[in-house]
Amino acid sequence: MWRVLLTVVLLGCKDDPTDDPEEDLWPYELPAGFPAPPVPADNPVTDAKVELGRYLFYDKQLSGNGEQACGDCHKQELAFADGRALPTGSTGDTIPRNAMTLTNAGYWSTFTWMNPALTTLEAQAMVAACNEAFRATQDAMWPREAKRAFEWFLGRNDLGLPLYDSTTGGCGDGLHHDRVNENQGAESTLAFHLSLAEMNCAEHLITPPHAS
Ligand code: HEC
Repeated sequence: MWRVLLTVVLLGCKDDPTDDPEEDLWPYELPAGFPAPPVPADNPVTDAKVELGRYLFYDKQLSGNGEQACGDCHKQELAFADGRALPTGSTGDTIPRNAMTLTNAGYWSTFTWMNPALTTLEAQAMVAACNEAFRATQDAMWPREAKRAFEWFLGRNDLGLPLYDSTTGGCGDGLHHDRVNENQGAESTLAFHLSLAEMNCAEHLITPPHAS
């Protein structure tokens, strides 16, 4: 059961469209009457994604000091909380909030309870993933996709409004259905500037600065 509930923590990559999407779908084993968690139609939960998610969840290399994994603060035996008042992060700092349970995360309607409109992190992850895909494959499709994802910050989005604010150097937290979220939080601002740095690096990758 835990395995089922955990799969949702990870956002997988899109499958190869030539794959048969039905072939290796994850068989949810839910109690009678329980609906399956909602899953995007173009990103089905497969055996491989569940396995990758489990692996990454316990991979200490994901932390700054290489000594902490998700599973250290979200312990399966404690309903994916950590049994402490406040956790300590990999920098040694105490985190000001309690490590919350991840039970039933697949059914949550937002990625962050604190700020449901925070969507800039997804855009940054998309820019980084596309650039990494180009490094790995040299396929010219990926720089185009990275640029498209980056332009989301600049107004190529559902509302046609820029989230990046050149007067403050900050970036809005995300899009409401009718306007930009006016809060320019540190995470969003960093997400924009990391994406900008990613795009600059990627450009050098495509056209080395000294190439004639
Ligand atoms: C140092 C401890 C620590 C580590 C390591 C950690 N978390 Fe957390 N996690 C927290 C805390 C604290 C919160 C509550 C944050 C809040 O209330 O804003 C949290 C919240 C979450 C949430 C809920 C977010 C929300 O607002 O709804 C998810 C999902 C999550 N963590 C997944 C992960 C994953 C996946 C990893 C590994 C990549 C991870 N966590 C690593 C401490 C940690």
